Amino acid sequence: VAPISVATLAAMKGRGEPIASLTCYDASFARLLDGVGVDMMLVGDSLGMVLQGHGTTVPVTMDDMVYHTAAVARARGRALVVADLPFLAYATPERALNNAARLMQEGGAQVVKLEGGAPMLETVRRLTEQGIPVCAHLGLLPQSVNRIGGYRFQGRDHASAEAIRHDALAMQDAGASLMVLECVPAALAAEISRTLSIPVIGIGAGPDCDGQVLVVYDMLGLNAGRAPSFSRDFLGSCGSIESAVRGYVEAVRSGAFPAEAETPY
Ligand code: KIV
Ligand code: NA
Repeated sequence: VAPISVATLAAMKGRGEPIASLTCYDASFARLLDGVGVDMMLVGDSLGMVLQGHGTTVPVTMDDMVYHTAAVARARGRALVVADLPFLAYATPERALNNAARLMQEGGAQVVKLEGGAPMLETVRRLTEQGIPVCAHLGLLPQSVNRIGGYRFQGRDHASAEAIRHDALAMQDAGASLMVLECVPAALAAEISRTLSIPVIGIGAGPDCDGQVLVVYDMLGLNAGRAPSFSRDFLGSCGSIESAVRGYVEAVRSGAFPAEAETPY
């Protein structure tokens, strides 16, 4: 099977085939996810919370990201490996270039992801000019939690929805190859997914995105009581991690996930 590239995901969007993505932080999960047909494995800085036990993603370092990205990339067969640039690792375009180089050269990532809209456009242009595929991340920006004051849905009022809509187009124009939309109303995510030509992967963004992503531990019920309202426990109802991940991929492909109950706004 041919390895997946950003072009493969764009072609899936063109065919209306939903993209199934999960976070992944180690080689054992990477082998399992890849084998079951997950299209994109995101080495998310959520590892600061679910692996390291921090309350936010802010403490995650470049060394942490390189270590986990390398573990995932070693076990990769077909799935696209996307790695997060952590807090302040892209505070200037130069830092972003150096740190993206680390994620790709030391870590083996194929795409780097960064949070933010208008202030990040120049950085996205610089990275894409150098041949680095960028996944933009709009809506709830967990690295900015200390400024926002909590993990809240974004884009619920007119001005904030307008800003996200505008940033989404600007990110595509700046050269972003993919986009994650986190915790925005379903109608806004649907509109952005329709408008953009690049694939839009939603988390807590309703069913009408080009794909879905969840934190793998949340969808295995490991964070029971702490998992967000837009997640689903796929393991509770079946016998193995492998069948849970298979169930997730099938539910994303068929449109059965997320359902109404997992679409808060
Ligand atoms: O770090 C992460 O897991 C993420 C996803 C929630 C999109 O950025
Ligand atoms: Na992240």
